[in-house]
Amino acid sequence: MAQITLEGITKIYGQDVVAVDNIDLEIKDGEFMVLLGPSGCGKSTTLRMIAGLEEITSGQMSIGGEVVNNVDPADRDLAVVFQNYALYPHMTVAGNLAFGLKLRKVERDEIDRRIKQTAGMLGIEELLARRPKELSGGQQQRVALGRALVRDPVAFLFDEPLSNLDAKLRAAMRTELIKIHRELGRTIVHVTHDQVEAMTMGERICVMRDGKIVQVGPPLDVYRNPIDTFVAGFLASPPMNLLDAQLGGPNGVDEVELGPVKLPIPPQRQAALAGQKGSAITFGVRPEDLYVEPPGGAHAAIDVTVIAVEALGPEVVLVASMAGGQEVSARLNRDFVASAGASVQLYVDLDRAHFFDAQNGQAIS
Ligand SMILES: Nc1ncnc2c1ncn2[C@@H]1O[C@H](COP(=O)(O)OP(=O)(O)OP(=O)(O)O)[C@@H](O)[C@H]1O
Ligand SMILES: [Mg+2]
Repeated sequence: MAQITLEGITKIYGQDVVAVDNIDLEIKDGEFMVLLGPSGCGKSTTLRMIAGLEEITSGQMSIGGEVVNNVDPADRDLAVVFQNYALYPHMTVAGNLAFGLKLRKVERDEIDRRIKQTAGMLGIEELLARRPKELSGGQQQRVALGRALVRDPVAFLFDEPLSNLDAKLRAAMRTELIKIHRELGRTIVHVTHDQVEAMTMGERICVMRDGKIVQVGPPLDVYRNPIDTFVAGFLASPPMNLLDAQLGGPNGVDEVELGPVKLPIPPQRQAALAGQKGSAITFGVRPEDLYVEPPGGAHAAIDVTVIAVEALGPEVVLVASMAGGQEVSARLNRDFVASAGASVQLYVDLDRAHFFDAQNGQAIS
C-alpha cells in the first residue's frame, strides 16, 4: 500500500522563504497524481519532502499509513526522477540501470531480466553499452526513467522527467508512462508545468500557486469548473479569455455587459448570480467556446476586429478586439481566413461561459 498523505505540510527555507504553505493532500494508493503550477510555486519542494530529501518544517507526512517525517529517504522505497537526472557518468547505461538493484542485493538473473524488460519498454536496448556522455539529452532522460522503473518501488516521484525531450518523443513518453502506470498499478506523483501532460496523464491534478494548493480534481473537472481565475487562466492553451464585465439588465442578472457589448445570460444561470446583482464580475469564455457559426444551445454574437490569425495547421487561433478594446482569443476551424483589421462576428457559447467575482477571482456558481 502506498497512499501518500500530506497534512498541514509547510516548508520554510532559511528564515522566511515559504516554499510550501500548509498543504493537505491525499494521494490514493495506485493513483497517478500530477502537481501542476507555475515556476516557483513549490512543486519540486513538495516532491522532495515526499521523497525525504527535504526536511519538513511542520506538518505530517505519511506513506502507506506510516508517518515518515523522520524516515530516511533510502527506507521509503520510492523511486525519484529529477528535473536534472544525474546519471553515474563512469557507468554504462546497463550499469546505471543495475546499480540500485545491486545495492538491494537482487540476484544477477533477475537484474538482467528487469534491465532487458525496462530497456525494451523505453526503446533504449541499443544504448545499454554506452556511457551517459555518449547519449543525447533525451536518451539520458529515458535512462534516468529506466533507472527508476527497474527498481519496482512502491511509488514513483517524477519531477518534470519529460522536459528535455523533443515534442514527438515527449508525446510518445507520455503514452508510455500512462501504459506503465496501468501495467504496474503503482502510485505516481508527477510534477510538471505542462498542461498537456497534466490533462492527459493525471487521474487527478493538483494545481498549486505560491506554495498553496488551489484546486484538486480529475483533469476534466478542473478544466470545466475552474475554482478561480488563476486556474481558469492557467489550464489549457490558449487560456480562457477573462474579461472585465458588469452584470446588468432589469433584474441586475439578465445580461453581462462587456463595455458597450451586452450578452444575455441564460435564465437557468441567473439564479446563481443573484448575490452579485449589478456587480462588476470577470466573464470567462474559453477560446474553444467561440465560434464563427452559431453553436447549438444558448449563444450570442459579438462583433470583433481581427488583430492576428495564427494558423497552427489543425486549427486557427484568432486574436481579436471587441468594441471597448478588450481582447479575445478564439480557436477556430483550420479553414478560417481573415486579414488584420477585418470585422468578424463571433458567437459565444453561453452555456459554457464562466462567471467570477471581480474582487477575489472566485468562481460564482
Ligand atoms: N534550497 C532552497 N533555498 C531557498 N529557497 C528555495 C530553495 N529551493 C527552492 N526555493 C524557493 O522555494 C520556492 C519553491 O521552489 P520549487 O523549486 O519548489 O518550485 P517549483 O514549483 O518546482 O518551480 P519550477 O517549475 O521552476 O521547477 C521558490 O520560491 C524557490 O525560489
Ligand atoms: Mg521544480
